[in-house]
Amino acid sequence: MYPLQLTVNGTVHDVNVDPRRSLLDLIRETLHLKGAKKGCDHGQCGACTMIVNGRRINSCLSLALSHEGDKVTTVEGLANGDALHPLQQAFIEQDAFQCGFCTAGQLCSAVALVDELNEGIPSAVTGAATGIASATLNAEEIRERMSGNLCRCGAYNNIVEAIRGVAGDNR
Ligand code: FES
Ligand code: FES
Repeated sequence: MYPLQLTVNGTVHDVNVDPRRSLLDLIRETLHLKGAKKGCDHGQCGACTMIVNGRRINSCLSLALSHEGDKVTTVEGLANGDALHPLQQAFIEQDAFQCGFCTAGQLCSAVALVDELNEGIPSAVTGAATGIASATLNAEEIRERMSGNLCRCGAYNNIVEAIRGVAGDNR
C-alpha cells in the first residue's frame, strides 16, 4: 500500500492505496462516491468518466496512484449546493436519460466538452486547420465529442439537445 493525496470535489483525501487499484475503484469503494459507474471496466463505455485537472478521463483505465496531487471532479461535485449545474438541469428538461446508468459519465463528459469548446480545442469533425472558433456547433460536432460515452437506452438525441442548449448559451 502506498500513500496518496488527491482532491475530490474540493475535499482533500489522504489514503493508502494498492498500486493496482483504479481511480474508479478508489472513488467508489474507498471514498464511497458511487455516482461514476463501472460499465465495462475496459475504457469502452464512458460510464466511469471523471474530470481530472480539467480534462475528462475514463477512470477505470487510470491507476489511482498516478493521481498524486490531482484535482478530481465527479458527478457529485457538479452541483453548487442545491443548485444543479446547468447541464444537469438541461438533462432533466430534455429528458436526456432513461435508466440513468450512463448519466454520471455523460454529464462529466459534457461539462468538459463545453470547456473544450470554450478553449477552442478542435475535434475530429471540426476541421483541424480552422479550429472550433469557426466551426458550427451542430449535432455532428456534439456526437463526435461525446462518442466515448455510450448509452444503452439510446437517449442520444435528447443528450445532444441538452448539451447544445447549454453549450450554445455559453458561447
Ligand atoms: S467503465 Fe470505464 S469506460 Fe466503461
Ligand atoms: S440512460 Fe440508460 S444507459 Fe443511458
